[in-house]
Amino acid sequence: MSAMAMKKINPVQQPEPTHAPQRKIVIAVDGPAASGKGTLAKKMADRLGYAYLDTGALYRAVAFATLELGGDPSKSEDVKPALAIIRRNLTPELLANPALRSHNVSEAASKVAVLAEVRAGLVGYQREFAKNPPGNVGGAVLDGRDIGTVICPDADLKFFVTATPEERARRRFDELKTRYPELTPEKVLQDILQRDQRDSGRKMAPALAADDACVLDTTRMNPSEALQEAFALIRSKLPVASNAAVHK
Ligand code: CDP
Repeated sequence: MSAMAMKKINPVQQPEPTHAPQRKIVIAVDGPAASGKGTLAKKMADRLGYAYLDTGALYRAVAFATLELGGDPSKSEDVKPALAIIRRNLTPELLANPALRSHNVSEAASKVAVLAEVRAGLVGYQREFAKNPPGNVGGAVLDGRDIGTVICPDADLKFFVTATPEERARRRFDELKTRYPELTPEKVLQDILQRDQRDSGRKMAPALAADDACVLDTTRMNPSEALQEAFALIRSKLPVASNAAVHK
């Protein structure tokens, strides 16, 4: 049959395939120190096959570089050169450096995070990650303090993960005790309370739950219970994501 005849028999035109990029799903996971948000966000991203960004590592990297340069993390003029270095060298490898997780870097991170130029300097990387997650996967999970309120206010789903300060201090103490034998549970609790105050009391992007966030109190939950609870919410509020979940 000739091409002309084919055209007569089947006049229905097939739509041209479009190559418009598919919109990525964004899940925001915010919460205070040691609330379990990092573990939860990472497991969630793994199961959904999404990219994961620990945004705290960005502030930690700036804090670490400031300390390495001998600067004071509360002083804008000392932090600026460190911020410039980090912005030029932002890679997943840099953010995975275990030195960023030390106790003094945690303290310094919450100080640099108060500075307006630091927050402004890190917004672009986070938004770009959410919009175009590496690996061209279907979505991104970002954890931090201001993801649902400032970085991705239009996120498809927002979690605010909490636990009592005492429980958070117990978790952080367990995590740090072998590396820092001089640390006491009381000191960890004191540091956590101080950091909470700095994070939620600051003018720019205070660590607060977005109005539309699902609050998850993990005080009496282990990590797999928290994940189960989060997935129940994902299934009810974001079925597109849960349908694509990798069953592990
Ligand atoms: O793991 P942990 O919750 O202790 O800390 P983190 O998430 O690594 O964040 C370290 C510090 O960075 C926090 O105390 C905040 O001051 C700051 N931060 C922020 O201001 N905004 C974010 N999106 C993430 C972290």
